[in-house]
Amino acid sequence: MLPPVIAPSILSADFARLAEETRAVDAAGADWIHLDVMDGHFVPNITFGPPVVKALRPHSDKFFDVHLMIAPADPYLAAFAEAGADGITVHAEAGPHIHRSLQTIRDLGKRAGVAINPGTPATMVEPVLDLVDLVLVMTVNPGFGGQKFLKSSMEAVARVRAMAAGRDIRIQVDGGIDAETVKAASRAGADTFVAGNAVFSGGPQAYAERIAAIRESAEGASGRDLTC
Ligand code: DX5
Ligand code: ZN
Repeated sequence: MLPPVIAPSILSADFARLAEETRAVDAAGADWIHLDVMDGHFVPNITFGPPVVKALRPHSDKFFDVHLMIAPADPYLAAFAEAGADGITVHAEAGPHIHRSLQTIRDLGKRAGVAINPGTPATMVEPVLDLVDLVLVMTVNPGFGGQKFLKSSMEAVARVRAMAAGRDIRIQVDGGIDAETVKAASRAGADTFVAGNAVFSGGPQAYAERIAAIRESAEGASGRDLTC
């Protein structure tokens, strides 16, 4: 198993102080910074676009993991790449041509990710595994931070892990991840963990402790029981 990656989602940060918050989680030990882009169409919430990614870029050297919850995504991929994304994840449900979207991300020189919602079968990512560096299995219905972790997504995580065997692909989970739920996700085969509320809810003085607790739980549970 790859070493765990902990990616705090700035969706749960103080939006009036986003640069400061980004610097704070970077200093607190975040491996990646997760940036949730929502359009009020693919998901029932609106966040930010490329200008905010660009504005934050000088504030951290960490991997910018841009999660696009937008449809269509293709017209905006180049703008997110130019804004400073290191990886761009698109939803398999967001359009009819996921293969083309992933190819475009690769052509832009960025790491490509494909995401599936809790209601989407894991097999949906199988035809595009050659084109991705990451598969994101949502553990909540996307749109909001602070929702309850869906244990039912663990089956999809285990299936994706089996499908991706032997490939250099990270398996990411996103939604309701904390120092407790991360254990089930890690056991099922996830190695990359997005956490919003669990990192940010304690305030800046607790960021390092919260990130370390999630990492410790993930490491402790990793690969323990692939049948979950
Ligand atoms: C949900 C977003 C998540 C969100 C996770 O639609 O994709 O990245 O920020 O937040 P928590 O960890 O609070 O569930
Ligand atoms: Zn996300």
